[in-house]
Amino acid sequence: MTIRFKPDETFREDFRYANSEAAILRFPFPFAEDKYMYSVNIEPHVRGGPTEAFQAAFDIDEHYVAECRERALVLEQDPNRCIVLPHMMPAQWDTLELIMESLAHDYPEHFQLARDRQRWTWTNRPLGIEDSFIFGDPTTLPYEPFEYITRQAQGDYTLQDQRDNNLYVDGGMVTTQADWSLEFNAGMSFHEWHGPVPLAHEMGVFDRALQFLLRLQYGKPVRRLNWTMTVNPRLDTSPENYPIWGPDRTTITRRNVGGKLHLRVELQTLFRLPRSNGILFGIRCYLASIDELARVPKWGRRLHRVLRDIHPDLEAYKGLNRYRQIALDHLAAFDDGEPTSPGI
Ligand code: HEM
Repeated sequence: MTIRFKPDETFREDFRYANSEAAILRFPFPFAEDKYMYSVNIEPHVRGGPTEAFQAAFDIDEHYVAECRERALVLEQDPNRCIVLPHMMPAQWDTLELIMESLAHDYPEHFQLARDRQRWTWTNRPLGIEDSFIFGDPTTLPYEPFEYITRQAQGDYTLQDQRDNNLYVDGGMVTTQADWSLEFNAGMSFHEWHGPVPLAHEMGVFDRALQFLLRLQYGKPVRRLNWTMTVNPRLDTSPENYPIWGPDRTTITRRNVGGKLHLRVELQTLFRLPRSNGILFGIRCYLASIDELARVPKWGRRLHRVLRDIHPDLEAYKGLNRYRQIALDHLAAFDDGEPTSPGI
């Protein structure tokens, strides 16, 4: 499938960003019912799913080229957004292999991988890259293997090492995050890095999720959806840059809310890695304004109900307090009060 990329989009300052009709219809809308609460919402990451975003191992869409440029900008200003601890080198090569093979398989018109024993040639047409290198020899690439390939991938990635019956976040490329810091979290265990999340610890969500992940098998990846809201189509909502984007939360008005307030959905994927026995965690971020989403009537209706009834602790954690009522007043126009059926 040929994707028509939009290379001039921006995710800062003038925010030249919008979703085409097709991009709205493929959006991974996260609510299967009219209410939302945390759960261990993990399912097999197989082809198929309610929209086209679930068809590839690593989904690429019209925003790919612009998102890679945005990542390069963030890294130029803050190289510590990519950190990999030294013992994770086997996991770096695992990641490079997995992403290259998957992209070449799922999008052959855009990406190609030619392998001659250890000598590999990688072609990335949308970004105009062609490199030959020796698999296993980092000196033959312009960056370490994990940074090399995640600079060419949409979404954030973290690398988990498995030891002592736990997972440790010992690496990552994190430039499009919903208000958490890789530099702060690096080296933490599963429960430690989830420390700030309300309610889910008491519900046993993290105990069960960790037990499940420790048994994750090679070749059987899983996925889950997470969501929050972001003012403006801004990818880099990091704690490091809070002074830049935090004040945006006060700029939502009745006039601008439909186009300015975005639902931010993370399609999260987890892959067991073959050599390192680590886990690759992909966090693929999708942004759509609430007016774009409301073009699909059942989504507008459902978003209204989910936001109306959200638990106050989740509202506070996700930072929705300042504009939730304005969003509700706007979305009420899309809610005819009719009952909805379960499913996206
Ligand atoms: C939030 C990382 C897997 C459930 C978070 C946060 C981070 C994170 C950094 C933000 C915490 C903060 O506020 O500082 C990861 C990593 C994973 C992983 C690296 C890879 C192993 C999972 C899994 C679940 C899960 C498998 C399944 C239940 C959640 C939930 C939140 C959260 C419910 C709160 C999100 C929100 O309300 O916006 N995670 N996570 N995570 N995580 Fe994970």
